[in-house]
Amino acid sequence: MLQTGRRCFSVLARCQPIATSSARAYSTEKAQKMEKREIFELDGRQYTPDALYNLSPAVRRLLDRRILQETSNPLNLLKRRVVDYVHQTYRKPGNRSPLFTICESEPRVVTTYQNFDSLLTPEDHVSRRPSDTYYVNREHCLRAHTSAHQHTLMKQGLDAFLVIGDVYRRDEVDRTHYPCFHQIEGVRLYTRDELLGKKSDASENAAELFTVTRDASRIPEKQETHSLDAVKAAEIQLKQFLESLCDELFGRDAEKRWVDAYFPFTHPSWELEVFYNGQWLEVLGCGIMEQKLLESAGVTDKIGWAFGIGLERIAMVLYGIPDIRLFWSKDTGFLSQFAGKQPGEDVKYKQISAHPQVIFDISFFLPDSTEFNDMTSDVYDTIRTIGGELVEQVKLTDEFENKKKAKKSQTYRIVYRSHEKALTKEEVNVIHKQIEQSLSTTYGVVLR
Ligand code: DAH
Repeated sequence: MLQTGRRCFSVLARCQPIATSSARAYSTEKAQKMEKREIFELDGRQYTPDALYNLSPAVRRLLDRRILQETSNPLNLLKRRVVDYVHQTYRKPGNRSPLFTICESEPRVVTTYQNFDSLLTPEDHVSRRPSDTYYVNREHCLRAHTSAHQHTLMKQGLDAFLVIGDVYRRDEVDRTHYPCFHQIEGVRLYTRDELLGKKSDASENAAELFTVTRDASRIPEKQETHSLDAVKAAEIQLKQFLESLCDELFGRDAEKRWVDAYFPFTHPSWELEVFYNGQWLEVLGCGIMEQKLLESAGVTDKIGWAFGIGLERIAMVLYGIPDIRLFWSKDTGFLSQFAGKQPGEDVKYKQISAHPQVIFDISFFLPDSTEFNDMTSDVYDTIRTIGGELVEQVKLTDEFENKKKAKKSQTYRIVYRSHEKALTKEEVNVIHKQIEQSLSTTYGVVLR
């Protein structure tokens, strides 16, 4: 019997209903249509809302923006880091190609069955509560976790996969919760031979090999149909992999601990916590998958483990991002700090100013026979020296060579922004002119 009165999800990241004022502000035709609960399309499928429909226009807007696909978003950086690590760790025995299939485009509306209600007793239908879940209609909701795709993907025959994407929950309001957040789900299924090595007695039926005939009961260590050997072997594989993933993210020195947990779709279940920046952080939930779930997907001769990682809370501590809403920022002062970075790089976010940016371009011809590359660092240095703290970003935006006239030209965009006050165009212009002046007298560039 599943325990009642407990949430079926961990606190990997919960979320809050969106402020109604911003919802009201969203008044495009599309939003009005949604409010009228008309048929709508999402991820290439059509849905018909009914009385349970509770997607706010603001949530509709979040669905339209795929921040995980935006390469300068820190969540994208973290995602690539985890995926790279999984590929590095698990390869197919023969051709050494990656073992795990990456599933990033599953439809985000799922059936309530997929969302795991199938495994719950009626009293435990936590994910069914309209106060927690974004409903499209009686049968469909926005996925509340990536675990919702386990069943379908196993049914398609996948044995090792990651499901990556945005998930949606209605929850309380604070700095660490948002109606949409992102998860990576991992699933690995093993046949008996893959898990325990080949048995000498080839006549044994693989399906029976996980079954304990003498003790077919559910105990804290295992499910009814599992043998203790199989569960222990799977648990070791799972924990070793997740601990090494954790080392990869937080460094080998970070202390880790396993905590017993409860999830309706795994047994036994654990959470992995890491001591980082002076506090214990819950990094992921995992466990041995419920055999009932495998069976319902047509998998009869395998045992599996699964884990789920919430990306926001990890990205917040790794990159020092203080507020979950920043992941949705379009401010280039934020995004430029992550753009072009390698997944393994140590990136620490520097608080951007709340004051507006002032943007100026600078264009010039290079002195004859100067190479583009030679010029660039001198320009960056000059801008930083003169602009100091007021320069937030500098970007080379254009470069061309007129072969006939043997002239090379460059354009740089400078984003000025102060932490103390809103800069006026006039005061920025004074600094900008000094930069131009310095470039032309020191390096002989000709301003265009
Ligand atoms: N789906 C869970 C959540 O959102 C996380 C999770 C826990 C996923 C255990 C798993 C798992 O695959 O085995 O909180």
